[in-house]
Amino acid sequence: MKLDRPKIIVTGGAGFIGSHTVVALVENGFEPIIIDDFSNASHSVLDGLYKIIGRQIKCYEMNCCRAEQLEDILQKEGDIKGIIHFAAFKSVSESQQYPLKYYENNVLSLGSVLRVMNKLNIKHLVFSSSCTVYGEPDQVPVTESSSIKEAASVYGYTKQIGERMIGDTINASKGLQAVILRYFNPIGAHPSAHIGELPNGVPENLVPYITQTAIGLRKQLTVFGGDYPTPDGTAIRDYIHVMDLAMAHVKALDWLKRNDERQGIFNIGTGKGTSVMELLSSFERINQVKVNYQIGPRRPGDIEQIYAQCDKSNNVMDWEAHFTIEEALRDAWNWEKKFRESN
Ligand code: WQD
Repeated sequence: MKLDRPKIIVTGGAGFIGSHTVVALVENGFEPIIIDDFSNASHSVLDGLYKIIGRQIKCYEMNCCRAEQLEDILQKEGDIKGIIHFAAFKSVSESQQYPLKYYENNVLSLGSVLRVMNKLNIKHLVFSSSCTVYGEPDQVPVTESSSIKEAASVYGYTKQIGERMIGDTINASKGLQAVILRYFNPIGAHPSAHIGELPNGVPENLVPYITQTAIGLRKQLTVFGGDYPTPDGTAIRDYIHVMDLAMAHVKALDWLKRNDERQGIFNIGTGKGTSVMELLSSFERINQVKVNYQIGPRRPGDIEQIYAQCDKSNNVMDWEAHFTIEEALRDAWNWEKKFRESN
């Protein structure tokens, strides 16, 4: 533990985006403290972080919905400069099958974090939101002032509720300041391949399903929908390297420190739309590997296309994506190979 570094609580910090953000925080002079219940993360992530950072990062195993326990931990730690709240379930498709699991966990955990921040006078919050708050956009790319339509999934709706909870809490409280980051599609892994995307069980997301099919863990990838009104008939998303996404959290903390605005909302994407088939062929080309796939029916909760307009993040928060999608797909494959070699 480096005592002179600002302490940042990272809930869900053992998860895919959380763990990569822990690395970015350490590299930028912060002292992250992980809180995670490991419901969708493996303890091996902590070993991976040790290999990258060169020392242990403090980690409390608990679920953020337990406000009293959360308060005890934050009280004991003391001098917390901010909280980055990742802890949530994040699968669009799973949220359609298990809505209550998503409402309870995603909404209650944020409520508990806000309650404890108010009580302990912790002022800075960075909230992991999502482009799914836009629903099916009328036009692309979407800006932060694009209309917030009916969410296409329970997951997206829990993020709409979360953003509203934060706005209402800011209005009702004295010092709370928040940055809401609307992520697009995070992919890839740390270039060292010591950490990466490691979903429990069968992957819901596209890229881990591709890498697990390529390595032989899965028999065949199903492309969900080949009849969308897009150039090649498959759905379009904005895929962003997880390391670029991680850096956005460092920039968000900097923004909070130098601004007295109560709330900032930012799109975190690349500004480029890529279809499922384009991504699949890029993966095969970059990594010189074939992926067995079939085109199947559309998946409930999916939208046709969305990608970001990132001018506000670039100009106001001084953040932009640097990695290419090809680098993300290379890193995702390197991670998959390295993880399977040692497990
Ligand atoms: C992408 C595309 C699928 C799996 C993600 C995150 C969510 C949020 C938004 C941050 C879709 C297709 C997928 C498969 C497929 N980000 N697909 N076969 O649903 O856009 O949501 O970004 O908050 O948290 O999960 O991502 O990777 O599941 O799907 O064809 O086996 O790939 O239909 O078009 P999604 P995804």
